[in-house]
Amino acid sequence: MESGQGIETVSLAGKKIILGVTGGIAAYKAAELCRLLVKAGAEVQVAMTAAAQQFVTPLTFQALSGRPVLASLWDTASGDGMAHIHLSRDADLILVAPASADFLAKLAHGRADDLLTTLCLARTCNLAVAPAMNREMWAAAATQRNLAQLRDDSVQVLGPAAGEQACGETGLGRMLEPADIEVALHGLLGKGVLAGKRVVITAGPTFEAIDPVRGLTNLSSGKMGYAVARAAAEAGAEVCLVSGPTCLAIPAGVRRVDVQSAAEMRDAVLRELPSDVFIAVAAVADYRVDAAASQKIKKSAAGLTLNLVANPDILTEVAALPDAPFCVGFAAETERLAEHAEAKRLKKKLPLLVGNLAQDTLGQDSAELVLFDDQGRHPLSRADKLSQARHLVRHLATLLN
Ligand code: C5P
Repeated sequence: MESGQGIETVSLAGKKIILGVTGGIAAYKAAELCRLLVKAGAEVQVAMTAAAQQFVTPLTFQALSGRPVLASLWDTASGDGMAHIHLSRDADLILVAPASADFLAKLAHGRADDLLTTLCLARTCNLAVAPAMNREMWAAAATQRNLAQLRDDSVQVLGPAAGEQACGETGLGRMLEPADIEVALHGLLGKGVLAGKRVVITAGPTFEAIDPVRGLTNLSSGKMGYAVARAAAEAGAEVCLVSGPTCLAIPAGVRRVDVQSAAEMRDAVLRELPSDVFIAVAAVADYRVDAAASQKIKKSAAGLTLNLVANPDILTEVAALPDAPFCVGFAAETERLAEHAEAKRLKKKLPLLVGNLAQDTLGQDSAELVLFDDQGRHPLSRADKLSQARHLVRHLATLLN
């Protein structure tokens, strides 16, 4: 159990997880995943397909999980020959990572011609798959058809991520990183403090067009908002992340809606409501150009005057709704943090506001935050943004309940 500043984060302690490993180069990452799950307290039983054993030996997983690996349906050593039934009855979750295109195809069609597919078909627990394959295989109509079928059958599909692939190509199809899969499991296993809650989060900057190639924006990496989204998903919430332009990957278990301008962000947020919680982390531009030019504005020695109009304040609008969710604001100040943050909290009528000094936080991986609520101020000492986000989530869950 991880803890810090007196606040515990969720763990997988005592959860029985069957980790299925199928044949793909990402099988080596499943070894790290196995280690993480064991470290988080889960009882991990690894089951490997024959193809997976061509990539990594069962001995590796046996050493990491502390249990003999199940490698064949025809293993007579396991009691009454009904191991697949007993195992899948006992498990809290079956996680297949990596899940190859071939395995997904078998699963979608209910095949049961080896131990892992048989375990999946005989299960009464949740099943999650983390696909990993070449980008063309991922994009293939057959794979997408199989995935649609699996989602219909309530199989949780985690990822894949985009990026460089073992084959040298770049695109969608990489297995999610083990740490991201672990995060998603916290949510799936329903142990989190926000289990069953719907949370909408804004993150990143907005971009207000001046003309087709220029615009007004704020300095914001989006890291804090993405960390909050990840922490909320980890705590079991169903998370929708309405994000302005950033270079960040979608956190595991989070649904992202991409927007550019403040007006688009507002519309997207209102579309996602009602929710239990709204967390506004985005650095929304306060103004937009009255009428953006449809063609590139030509440079002129005479200068240029832009007529700016105020953007909607999304947080204020959401907080004033008759069925308003629990609203959390962020305030980045450059001076007199406590005074400005508390004034902002009262003005926007928020139960909770997170303050920070902009110069300390912008673009950085760590942050020093202060939480302001009806009870007063709660300073969190400097830590990485994910840890801070987890503290925030625990704090808001306490207020919510
Ligand atoms: O910009 P300001 O300091 O008012 O931001 C405080 C909070 O209000 C932040 O949580 C921000 O995401 C939110 N906000 C918003 N819409 C705006 C401006 C700010 O939701 N137009």
